[in-house]
Amino acid sequence: MAIEKKYERSIELLNKALAEENTAALQYMFFHFICEDKGYRPLAQYFKKAAIDEMRHSEMLAERILFLEGAVKMVLAKGVNHVTEPKEMLDYARQLEVATIEDYNMWSKETGDNGDAGTHRMFQNLIEQEEGHMDHFRLEMENAGEFGAEYLALQVVDNLKHAE
Ligand SMILES: [Fe+2]
Ligand SMILES: [Fe+2]
Repeated sequence: MAIEKKYERSIELLNKALAEENTAALQYMFFHFICEDKGYRPLAQYFKKAAIDEMRHSEMLAERILFLEGAVKMVLAKGVNHVTEPKEMLDYARQLEVATIEDYNMWSKETGDNGDAGTHRMFQNLIEQEEGHMDHFRLEMENAGEFGAEYLALQVVDNLKHAE
């Protein structure tokens, strides 16, 4: 593959990844707002932390696009899903991560095959972090299912403990 072509494809894939990161950041901030409003403090905090992680990923991807002399598109892959029930939020967040991991695995392979080791490695690093998110969302989703009302009660109690 010609050198310009190879980076053209990388830029395209990096922009697709950036759109997914932007979507995840907005989605998790939405979940953060809802959980915060309901007093589900630990969940609210985790969603905020994850949103900030995704924003950092957006930054990394945008920097790489600019380094490759591409244009940063800064769009969303899709709109925010307005589910407000904790178990559904966690399940949706888990699904977002699974889809992203799948895409990054494909794109890591493709950019590696094209000989763009820098982008290849960036996708590999991101996969590790998204797997961490996915694992955490899955665990919380399972706990929310297993403990039901008790799970939510503990969240609210934690909120009270930190009341000012
Ligand atoms: Fe991410
Ligand atoms: Fe993530």
